[in-house]
Amino acid sequence: MRQVVLKAPRELEFREVPAPRAADLKEHEILLQVKRIGICGSEIHSYHGTHPATFYPVVQGHEYAGTVVAVGTAVESIRPGDKITARPQLVCGTCNPCRRGQYNVCEHLRVQAFQADGAAQDYFVVSDDRAVRLPDDLPLDYGAMIEPSAVGAHATTRPRELEGRNVVVSGAGTIGNLIAQFAKARGARKVVITDVSDARLAIARECGIEHTLNVARTPLKEALPELFGEEGFQVGFEAAGVEVSVRSLMECIEKGGDVIIVGVHAKDPAISMFYLGEHELNLIGSMMYRHEDYLTAVDMVSKGRIHLQPLVSNRFPLEQYDEAYRYIDAHRETSMKVLVDLEA
Ligand SMILES: NC(=O)c1ccc[n+]([C@@H]2O[C@H](COP(=O)([O-])OP(=O)(O)OC[C@H]3O[C@@H](n4cnc5c(N)ncnc54)[C@H](O)[C@@H]3O)[C@@H](O)[C@H]2O)c1
Ligand SMILES: [Zn+2]
Ligand SMILES: [Zn+2]
Repeated sequence: MRQVVLKAPRELEFREVPAPRAADLKEHEILLQVKRIGICGSEIHSYHGTHPATFYPVVQGHEYAGTVVAVGTAVESIRPGDKITARPQLVCGTCNPCRRGQYNVCEHLRVQAFQADGAAQDYFVVSDDRAVRLPDDLPLDYGAMIEPSAVGAHATTRPRELEGRNVVVSGAGTIGNLIAQFAKARGARKVVITDVSDARLAIARECGIEHTLNVARTPLKEALPELFGEEGFQVGFEAAGVEVSVRSLMECIEKGGDVIIVGVHAKDPAISMFYLGEHELNLIGSMMYRHEDYLTAVDMVSKGRIHLQPLVSNRFPLEQYDEAYRYIDAHRETSMKVLVDLEA
């Protein structure tokens, strides 16, 4: 079978390797024929050698979907022929976070495509506790986009309260977009998404997020009265990963509000301890997802409550994995989700 390995920064190798065999499956394992892979920003960092926790060489691909070829003897709910996706999280199961069910922050977490091999190959073995069955009529493209959707599903469980609250999402990349869509779907009152790119805000509107603000033209603080009147906003999601974004959320949010940090800050931002302390703000982290977030994402996407089509920018066959990376580099602002189609 074909396999795509990132040997070192900017060095992709296309290998021909033996496929895993159905006869070798352990009882809780599933053999998957991989059909779609989504490329995400973190892998672009691995590609450029700027991801601090990528162990090379590594097989690419952590957002994937495909069809089941065979299952181990103890697999119950998934059958050959089913469409599935799976969480790319390998956890220890025994550390304190794992034991209290917070395995998304396992002390020994390994994420496929970064610290363990990923799915950029024709066949892949996953364990049944990480697999989620997709409805038959759900396009495989969307199956590969359940992973970023689950990031949005999880982040929107992090505020102490979301329903009926006004929300600002800072950053309208794939992640901010999906957080804003989930915030709306979960009953937030008014959801405003901000970015410095009109192109990304236009995509947000295509996804049904009506209220957009270009903070390069009008800073959040200036726009607040018009956006929320006397009400202000109570929940902020930081999904840009830049200092000015977290600072402005902390400065503008109602006292006592919740700021959820989703963006990965390459450089630690200088934030105001004054606002944090005197305004009794809650800074809350959000890390990937847990299984229930995958289930929520599949449910909401298949019901059409989360719109993924406007996020698909382009697709490439497996042989053109490096073209896909180059395309993303050359279209930073306009490309959102680039898919690799193993059937092409
Ligand atoms: N916590 C998690 O589990 C998790 C999971 C996936 C990604 N992430 C992180 O989330 C962040 C967003 O991911 P993405 O794939 O959407 O990235 P992205 O780079 O596509 O999106 C970031 C967006 O922020 C915008 N931006 C820049 N400056 C801004 C500002 N001052 N105000 C508002 N917007 C601004 C950019 O124009 C861009 O559209 C990244 O930092 C990523 O590493 C976190
Ligand atoms: Zn991803
Ligand atoms: Zn653990």
